[in-house]
Amino acid sequence: MKVFITRNIPPIGIDLLKPHFEVELHASSETLPGEALKRKLKDADAVLCLLTDAITPAVMDAAPKLKVISNHAVGVDNVDVAYATRRGIAVTNTPGVLTDATADFTWTLLLALARNVAAGDAVVRNGRFHGWDPLFLLGADLAGKTLGIVGAGRIGTAVAERSAGWKMKILYFDRAPNPHLENTFHARRVSFPVLLKEADFVTIHLPLSAETTHLLGEPEFALMKPTAYLVNTARGAIIDEAALVRALREGKIAGAALDVYEREPALAEGLAERNNVLLAPHIASATVATRNKMAEIAARNIIHVLHGETPVSIVNPEVLNRVK
Ligand code: GLV
Repeated sequence: MKVFITRNIPPIGIDLLKPHFEVELHASSETLPGEALKRKLKDADAVLCLLTDAITPAVMDAAPKLKVISNHAVGVDNVDVAYATRRGIAVTNTPGVLTDATADFTWTLLLALARNVAAGDAVVRNGRFHGWDPLFLLGADLAGKTLGIVGAGRIGTAVAERSAGWKMKILYFDRAPNPHLENTFHARRVSFPVLLKEADFVTIHLPLSAETTHLLGEPEFALMKPTAYLVNTARGAIIDEAALVRALREGKIAGAALDVYEREPALAEGLAERNNVLLAPHIASATVATRNKMAEIAARNIIHVLHGETPVSIVNPEVLNRVK
């Protein structure tokens, strides 16, 4: 059977697949354009793809033998899962292994934003540091402030757990109650508007779907405190980026730190010109160990599905008894 890997990934994933299948790697750090991807998948039984690959119905239709789409990510918004399910194609992902790295990076951004780390680095680097100044680059304290977690799944929970050192109040918005957060961290489940009104720091940890696209736009920024900070390490399109630029320009919120963008890698007009934003290049899960584990699980998911076994993590388990 044939496996196509759309781009360079940590070698551990490729090495796991090789003894089992004929493996073709697009040995590049560039995303394959859709037409080239379709040609590569013509006789593939499995594809190991990245969040930068759009796995559309047209791509799947060009792959008549495809049995598994193994996404090297936890988010699967780049895959048309409903269509894959209709076609009986398993869609797998890599949850769990990137929870800590992503939660750590959320705090990296939150702290760096609140304390002007990037601006300070630029000042020193450019020879504009003229000595200690009692009024220079004053940021915000965290202790006793309110942290608003939008999406209290694995990553949102890990972010909340890390707030203990700052003795923050925790509010969360989620479809389901999270008893662990409520019992151990005294977190309060609230409506989305209440979270926006009360939180000093709002951090997003939801998957991207039709329901969550532009969850934060102009009306939501209007609810937030002018002193509040927004952090997004989930998916860019959860925020209406043009509305965010306006909110930052008009002082509706104090600042934002983003790891993800609506039209990655493009930025909304005016975003990079704002000095109250911190911009990271989608690296929340980028640690050596985490990326190795993601590659390993993505490979194992393929091995298991093609061997008729239960994969480590599947998004559409209903297809499993149909994959043979
Ligand atoms: C990264 O963004 C992921 O979804 O794994």
